[in-house]
Amino acid sequence: MPQQAAVQIRHLTKAIGKKTIVDDLSFDIPEGEVFGFLGPNGAGKTTTIRMMVGLITKTRGKVFVYGTDVDKDFRAAMNRVGAIVENPELYKFLTGYQNLKHFARMSTGVGEERIREVVKLVGLEQRIHDKVKTYSLGMRQRLGLAQALLRKPDVLILDEPTNGLDPAGIRELRDHLRTLAKRDGVAVIVSSHLLSEMELMCDRVAIIQSGKLVDVRTIRNGLGADEDTEQTTEIQVDDGEAAVAVIRADHAGVSAQLQESAVVVSVTRDKVPEIVRSLVVAGIKIYAVNSVNKSLEDTFLEITGGGSIGV
Ligand SMILES: Nc1ncnc2c1ncn2[C@@H]1O[C@H](COP(=O)(O)OP(=O)(O)OP(=O)(O)O)[C@@H](O)[C@H]1O
Ligand SMILES: [Mg+2]
Repeated sequence: MPQQAAVQIRHLTKAIGKKTIVDDLSFDIPEGEVFGFLGPNGAGKTTTIRMMVGLITKTRGKVFVYGTDVDKDFRAAMNRVGAIVENPELYKFLTGYQNLKHFARMSTGVGEERIREVVKLVGLEQRIHDKVKTYSLGMRQRLGLAQALLRKPDVLILDEPTNGLDPAGIRELRDHLRTLAKRDGVAVIVSSHLLSEMELMCDRVAIIQSGKLVDVRTIRNGLGADEDTEQTTEIQVDDGEAAVAVIRADHAGVSAQLQESAVVVSVTRDKVPEIVRSLVVAGIKIYAVNSVNKSLEDTFLEITGGGSIGV
């Protein structure tokens, strides 16, 4: 079943002076997907997002939100979009609640109840009546997210949303974004320079380097890699040596190695159940099977040269 593209980006380009900061980006983001922009500092993630939401002009290219050309009907398109771009715009001398109230007044159909709902969602109940100037960075991020969610957007765009959040906050955000996508069909676009974070959060990731789209990767269940790519899989067993012997005997050509209490094999996805089955048949107890995805990391590091800042 084809999913409707919530956002379409075509040949999006930004040049400042002689420098092309964002260079001919094209891709579609369907509804219900968490899509990541992944790239090192200076790759052009924020610039791309700023163009998408009309904060800066495009040099070239088009952005469509559910088929509406952002240049032709900006209001209609942006009505469906909630966004936080870098530092959310907040009034520091008002309380969190007053900020949300102010924002709600500018939108139709957002009442007290919805405000309470989003405050709860982002976990700010305790501090919502304090002035924003007393908030920590993570609290400001949470308030920004609450603001972006107020109007129940169909498209949610968040630039570095985990910036400043503590581990519990990152996890909550991740769960929350995934729920919004999977339950409500929201198209969620997030940016980050952290691969590990994107792997856990996203369905697909666009790798951006020096303004160019290098690759779009599908990440399955946070495990990554394509069907025919070998993945490192770690199997926790009660008897590692016996397990290695079984794998070597039953699966010629598969390399199995013992690492502490786990057997590590490098195989394609479809081989994993076969290996698990032969271990079970041999009476070996299996405590866990973990996929250790190296391929996306390898790609990312290859592309970005180990994290150096793009020029
Ligand atoms: N107004 C501007 N004038 C000149 N250059 C700019 C301007 N805005 C951004 N740039 C340059 O464009 C490039 C991309 O910047 P951008 O902020 O989009 O990167 P980013 O991927 O968001 O990086 P980070 O991970 O650090 O947030 C950088 O080299 C930056 O210096
Ligand atoms: Mg940025």
